[in-house]
Amino acid sequence: MDVYGLIGNPVEHSLSPPMHEAAYEELGLYARYVTFEPPKDAAGDAIGAAETLGLAGLNVTIPFKEAVLDAVEPDDLAARIGAVNTIDLSGDRPTGHNTDAIGAVRALEEHDVAIEGSAVVVGAGGAGRAVSFGLAEEGMEVAIANRTVEKAHDLAAEVPGASGHGIDTLSDLLSGADVLVNATSVGMDEDRSPVPADALHAELAVLDAVYSPIETRLLRDAAQTGATTVDGAWMLLFQGVEAFERWTGQAAPVEEMNRALRGRL
Ligand code: ATR
Repeated sequence: MDVYGLIGNPVEHSLSPPMHEAAYEELGLYARYVTFEPPKDAAGDAIGAAETLGLAGLNVTIPFKEAVLDAVEPDDLAARIGAVNTIDLSGDRPTGHNTDAIGAVRALEEHDVAIEGSAVVVGAGGAGRAVSFGLAEEGMEVAIANRTVEKAHDLAAEVPGASGHGIDTLSDLLSGADVLVNATSVGMDEDRSPVPADALHAELAVLDAVYSPIETRLLRDAAQTGATTVDGAWMLLFQGVEAFERWTGQAAPVEEMNRALRGRL
């Protein structure tokens, strides 16, 4: 049996187990996906233990995404992002990847959004980093807007072709933009949006990384302007789909994984 896992702290409410196990069931794979909650300072030990026990692959979530870099061989994108969420344990040495970045891209593509032109990413934390690198990697011109403007400038200096801005400039930034991503925690379990409603317009595609609630204030405002909306569950889904495909070498049963995920939201 192949055992896959997730390390994080806390992980008890993770939606990854039902999502991945739905894929195993659909494809008839003899595999399980389990969660582990190592102590917060034990990222390296956890990777070593996974290797010793013969786990097939690991996902990584908060607070370990940066710390595991020392224990794996990161690919180019994960090294530049400075965070790993997927570890492949099938080779001699564990390799680290970041499927959050491509997850955002695939979530947009699934909704027929062209990954070209200009994108505004709100937020310069972990999610903002992954999304900014992911969109820039695909050739988009990325403007990063953050409440703490220095963090936007610092991140923009690392992302190819990106610019950094204060969150108060969103209306200007969005007037000619094609894609908007909320990568802040604003809107999570609250009816608040990080973007003024009158800055949104029908030519935008809006992805909210927040998935609780599934329809955030931002997505509601965006839908009212006629914008294309993509909820955060799509991003969560496609980071999982990418991890599954990397581990198994098989095309993921996206529909079944999506159904399992949304059934738990
Ligand atoms: P994550 O890893 O989920 O991205 P994080 O690294 O803590 O979490 O980053 C949270 C992001 O949400 C940051 O961009 C943060 O802005 P600051 O850098 O200014 O802190 C943003 N954020 C959190 N609360 C916010 C609020 N009330 N208004 C605007 N931005 C907020």
